[in-house]
Order: sequence, then structure tokens, then C-alpha cells
Amino acid sequence: MPATVSYEVTDGIAVITIDNPPVNAMSAAVRKGCWEALDRLAADDTARAAVLICAGRTFIAGADITEFDKPIVDPWLPDVVEKFEASEKPVVAAIHGTALGGGLETAMGCHYRCALPTARVGLPEVHLGLLPGATGTQRLPRLSGARKALEMMTSGRQVGAAEALESGIIEKIVEGDLRAGAIAWARELLDGGAPLKRVSQLEIHDAADMDDEFYAEYEQQLARKARGFFAPFQIVKCVRAAVNESYSDAFRTERRLFDECKESTHSQAQRHLFFAEREVAKIPDVPKTTPVRDINSVAVIGAGTMGGGIAMNFVNAGIPVTVLEVDQAGLERGLGVIRKNYGVAVDKGRMTEAQLEQAMGMITPTTDYAGVAGADLVIEAVFENMEIKKQVFTKLDGVCKQGAILASNTSSLDLNEIAVVTKRPGDVIGMHFFAPANIMKLLEIVRGEQTAADVIATAMATAKKIRKVGVLVGVCFGFVGNRMFFPYIREAQLMMLEGIPPERVDRVAYDWGMAMGPHAVMDLSGLDVFYKLNNEWRERPDDPVYCRMINVLTEMGRQGQKTGAGTYRYEGRKAVPDPEVMEIARREAQALGVRQIEVSDEEIIERLLYSMINEGARVLEEGIAIRPGDIDVIFVNGYGMPRYRGGPMKYADMAGIDNVLAAVEKYRARYGDLWWTPAPLLEQLARSGSSFQAWSRNR
Ligand code: 3HC
Ligand code: NAI
Repeated sequence: MPATVSYEVTDGIAVITIDNPPVNAMSAAVRKGCWEALDRLAADDTARAAVLICAGRTFIAGADITEFDKPIVDPWLPDVVEKFEASEKPVVAAIHGTALGGGLETAMGCHYRCALPTARVGLPEVHLGLLPGATGTQRLPRLSGARKALEMMTSGRQVGAAEALESGIIEKIVEGDLRAGAIAWARELLDGGAPLKRVSQLEIHDAADMDDEFYAEYEQQLARKARGFFAPFQIVKCVRAAVNESYSDAFRTERRLFDECKESTHSQAQRHLFFAEREVAKIPDVPKTTPVRDINSVAVIGAGTMGGGIAMNFVNAGIPVTVLEVDQAGLERGLGVIRKNYGVAVDKGRMTEAQLEQAMGMITPTTDYAGVAGADLVIEAVFENMEIKKQVFTKLDGVCKQGAILASNTSSLDLNEIAVVTKRPGDVIGMHFFAPANIMKLLEIVRGEQTAADVIATAMATAKKIRKVGVLVGVCFGFVGNRMFFPYIREAQLMMLEGIPPERVDRVAYDWGMAMGPHAVMDLSGLDVFYKLNNEWRERPDDPVYCRMINVLTEMGRQGQKTGAGTYRYEGRKAVPDPEVMEIARREAQALGVRQIEVSDEEIIERLLYSMINEGARVLEEGIAIRPGDIDVIFVNGYGMPRYRGGPMKYADMAGIDNVLAAVEKYRARYGDLWWTPAPLLEQLARSGSSFQAWSRNR
């Protein structure tokens, strides 16, 4: 028997222990080990029942995700689950940590389930673009009812032990020692003559009124919550089969639909992101053992749009914050916005009035730099202006205690230039939050030329503490996210001059899966923001066509939603296409000699995305991003790109780099070299039939 699964008998009860660190995934070796353990149990006269338990920090966390891209190795997980159920001797699953996916499916193959009060269970396959494919879609409805199972499986939500007990997913909570408790319970079940509870043979207790109307309504709700995703709808079909078909027929349906999911680009994309989001924390020259500095107090300089949201993150994590503004009026305005934001949470019932006051009590307002001298971490969020930033950092250098980390939230400026105004450039780092800063998950952590390793490690750890996804990037204009977003915006802007209505471009981008189209995003952030950024970009090639409409509209005072008109006109928050804007675009195009053209939806997507991907290849060549997966993590967490596309670089890999290059060359032939020269890395990968992912792995 492989060492990952052990078998021993204590007083008539066999204990089957899985020990496959870190999370006891059901790898081929574990499946084989369980199979052999069950054979041994059947033949073992000294054992009357068995307990299935795991060593280490958790019960089985699911199938081994790394095996999905490899040929299947026997025994198959569904067969292992069925073998547990077929055992003539009762098997009790003893759960600690999390029983997830194939882990919960295995537990549901057992005859009884007990768990520690702290344990959690769930079927999160949907997050990987999959469905529970080892009989989970058939078993969970039989234990919890079909409605609850639908909700759990389409959302991937985990439930705690108490909720699992209440809904019938487990039968017992064990206080204290799980192994001893589970053995004692197995003995109790034997002594009480408890029958073998075979989940596949149970009735679904709430199946009666699940008719066509119910499913249609459920799918309608899902279409809103999980727009564009594939797996949630496959899960609905599986539950429908569970309700309407025999167990064995419905299981075959589950298998077929699982395979469809597994082969889909959605699942490839979502599995890629699962690993990319874990890999992002690994920085080659900043090992895990790098010491981190304690962050027990934070100061934020500037309480505007970003500063307020940044402060809220730390308050929410229980870390007190001092907020510094130029004057009392600035402070009052800033704190007013924070209070209003917390007020929304109170209105929605997510927070009490008392908690609001407690949160506000953790913020100390000041206009005096002496007030931030003791902070462990200072985050500057003043105007995006190099001179002002330099003044602020000079002052911080003068007052802040030794060892304090001095961070800037700049979204584009040269961090190295800011760092060298201090006598401690090693302590200076970028922490680039995304608006709204209290909500968006992404945090780009910008490494300057001199930033010390422990400062990087501390910033990464801090991101985790405030529940952000921290991605380390290098210094260049716009860092990774904005630098790659500019070409996307540039193409959307050029299309306007070419006579393609913004609402069409936005619809195509939205249908592809973006949370909002490029024009709607610009109107939301403010065209003036892009206008200023474009002007700050010192190395920008001279091109009068570049983002021309941003300039024209901003100079007309059409800054976007905040002025009631930008690229769209606004009726309240509703965007209305404005014929006047297209008229202006036509005039500008004529003056600039831009041809009016007809384009397909496919071309719209290609130009938006491939321009971005080409820039992504340069970002990788220059080492601004460590890995292609890091870029993907940035775009799904900070730019509203749907997870089922995997991020721009994974999307390029799935489209085929040669196809991406061919399209880039096509646009280069039409528009010239200025913006469409292929990145050398793109050419190299296309030539060698490689992908960004393979290139990254083999480096
Ligand atoms: N397969 C392979 N590796 C896995 C894994 C899995 N199911 N789950 C986690 N890992 C790996 C991670 O990649 C990570 O590796 P690394 O250290 O090399 O980066 C390591 O285990 C630790 O994972 P985390 O950093 O995520 O550890 P946490 O303690 O933060 O979280 C967890 C633990 C809650 C178990 C979390 O890892 C998790 O959610 N795992 C995935 C659960 C899941 O999706 N299960 C369903 C799998 S699909 C399935 O079962 C299909 C079936 O229905 C047929
Ligand atoms: P903002 O204009 O809303 O706020 C800036 C605040 O800083 C104002 O309240 C101002 O009074 C204060 N301030 C100015 N000079 C100061 C000084 N010397 N000392 C103390 N306070 C001072 O600007 P916003 O949008 O919050 O941007 C701040 C920074 O965040 C900029 O660097 C910007 O590039 C960056 N950023 C902005 C994003 C956005 O979407 N708004 C997104 C990500 C980063």
C-alpha cells in the first residue's frame, strides 16, 4: 500500500489515514491506497468498521488538480467513492479542516460523516470551471436536498460544521479529539445496529415540485450572477438529472457533463488561475524565509478618492490608521466619505452602527507630519504629480521612524525618482491600489531599483492581511496593469475615429465577458484621468491620432459620469449614446485623415486584446512582470476580465501564439509600425510553436 494511506486496527475498528501533504489531494497514489485499504478491510476479520481520517492540516481538499491535464490513472475517483459505499462494513468519515470537492464526495461515499466544530465542507469545483464529477452532484442533493445542493454547487460556497449538520450533510459533530471521537462513534453505530447508510440509495426529499418553471427561474438568476460562465449551468443539468433520472443514468449524465467542462477553455482558464494566484506569492529572489517587519500602525497621506479607501482596508483588518491632509477641510471631506461608505454597509445590514463608530474610532485625523512619525507603514496617496510626491517623501524621510516602510500609491510615476529624494530608498516601495480601493482585490506592489527584500516581503504579507491579491511588478510607466490597459484604450479610441460607435465596442467587450466596455470604464474613471495620464507619459510616441477623442471631450468639459457627459451622455447613471460625439469623431477623423471603416465583432476583440497582449509580451521581456500568470492575476482581479478567459496571456496561449502574431502582423500592415510592431518574444514563441506558459516554465 502506498505510504500516503495507512491502515491500522484498534479494538475492532480500522483506521484508514490519508497523509498526502499539503492538503491531502486525492492523487493517483491516494486513490490506489484507499482502494487497497478497502480490500484489506473487507478481508480483515479483526475489523468490524472503519474510520477514514486525514493527517495534517485538513481532510481531503479534492481531486488532485495537477492531474487534470494528464492521462487518467486507475482507479478513478468515482470508482473509489463507489467502493467506499459498497463496503459491507460501515465506514465513518472524520473531517477536520476542509472537505472539498472530491474530498466531500469521498466522505459522501462513506456511510456516516462526523466533523470537528471548526471543519468546513463544500463542492467548489465551479471555481475551476468544473462540476463535482465523482458523484457529488448526485449525492449532495440526497443529503441536503436538491435546492441547497444547487446553491452550494453553483456558488462553490463552503458551509461550516453546524450548517452541515443541520442540513444533513454530516450526522455528528465531535468535540475534542477527532480520531478518538470517530472511533467511539463507529463503535456506537455498530452496537446500536445502525444500518449501512448508502447515500446513492436515499430519496431526494425536496424533489416533488422541482419543475421546468423552477429550473428556468434558477437559470435566469444564474445568468445574472454567473454571466458567461459554463459550469454553473452544467451543474443545474446534473441536479435535474438527479431529480428525474435513476441514480446510474444520472451519474452517466454527470460524467458526460463533467468531461465537457474539463475540456472547455473555461476550465483550462480557471485552473490556470488557481495555480497562478498561488504562484504570484513566490518571488524568486525573496525567499519565504525573508523576515517581515511588523505592521501594527499605518498612516495614509491624502484622504481623497484613493486615500479614504486605502485607510478603510487597514481599519477593516483591525489596524489603526492616521490620515494626513493639507488642511482641516480636506480631512473633514475625506473622513466624511469614509463614514458614508461605512454607512452604506450599515444600510445593507452588513455592519451595525456601533461597528461603524468603532471603525471611525480607529482613524486618527491630522494635518501635522509629527502625527505620522510613529507609523510602521506610510502610504502616500496625494495628487499624481511628481513634484508634490517628492515634497511629501522628503517630509516623510525627515519625520518617520527608522524601519518604517514608505509606500506610494502612484499609478504611473517613476518610483525610483521618488525613492531617491529620501535617505532610505531601500524602504521605499509602490503599493498601487485600484479604485474603489476598499473593494478591488488587486494590489500591484512596485519594486524600485533599491527596494529591500524584507520591504517587498512585508508588502506582500500586508496585501494578504488586508485580503488583497498582491502582485509584484517593476517600475515603468503604468507598471503592468495600466501599461497594458493603455493599448486597449488606444484601440477603442481609434475605433471611434473610424466611425465605430462606442456602444458597439462596449457591447462586444461586454459580451466577451468584460465587466464593462472600455468607453464605459473611461467615463466611470473620468476622461480627465486618462487625459492627465497621457500627458504624464514622457516617452509617448508623437501621434496626433493617439487617444484623440479623450483630449477633445475632456477639453470640452465632458469628463464622464461625474460631469453628466463623457463619451456617453448620462441620464442619472444610465449611459445614453450621444450622436453629437460621433459627429465630433467624424470631424476629427477628417481633419486627421483617419479612414472610416466597417469592422467585424471579431476584429473589435482582436484589436482590443491583441494590442494588450503584445504589450504584455514586452512587459515579460523587460522583466516588469515575473510570470505571464502574474499578468493574468492582475487583469482578473483589477480590470474586470472574466475568470473564464484566464487573463490576457492565458487567453493568448489558448488562441495560439501564431494566430495572435498573424493578427498583429495584419494590423501592422494596415496601421504601420508605430503601435503594432510585434514584440520579439511574441515572434519567438510563434516561431517555436511555444506558449507564454511553456516559456515561463522553461526559463
Ligand atoms: N490539488 C492539487 N494541489 C492542490 C489542491 C488540489 N486539489 N488544493 C491545494 N493544492 C495545493 C496548492 O496549489 C498549494 O500548492 P503550493 O504550496 O505549491 O502553492 C498548496 O496545495 C496549498 O494550498 P493553499 O495555498 O491554497 O493552502 P490554504 O491552506 O490557503 O488552502 C484549501 C487550503 C482551502 C484546501 C485550498 O487549497 C483550496 O481551496 N484547494 C482547492 C479545493 C478544490 O477546488 N477542490 C476541488 C478540486 S476539483 C475536484 O475535486 C473534482 C472532483 O469533483 C472530481
Ligand atoms: P484625489 O485628488 O481624489 O485625492 C488626493 C488627495 O490628496 C486630496 O484630498 C488632496 O487634498 C490631498 N493632498 C494633495 N497634496 C497633499 C499633500 N501635500 N499632503 C497631504 N495631502 C495632500 O486623488 P486620487 O484619485 O485619490 O489619487 C491619489 C493617488 O492615487 C494618485 O497618485 C493617483 O494616481 C493614484 N491612484 C488613483 C486611482 C484612481 O482611480 N483615482 C487609482 C489608483 C491610483
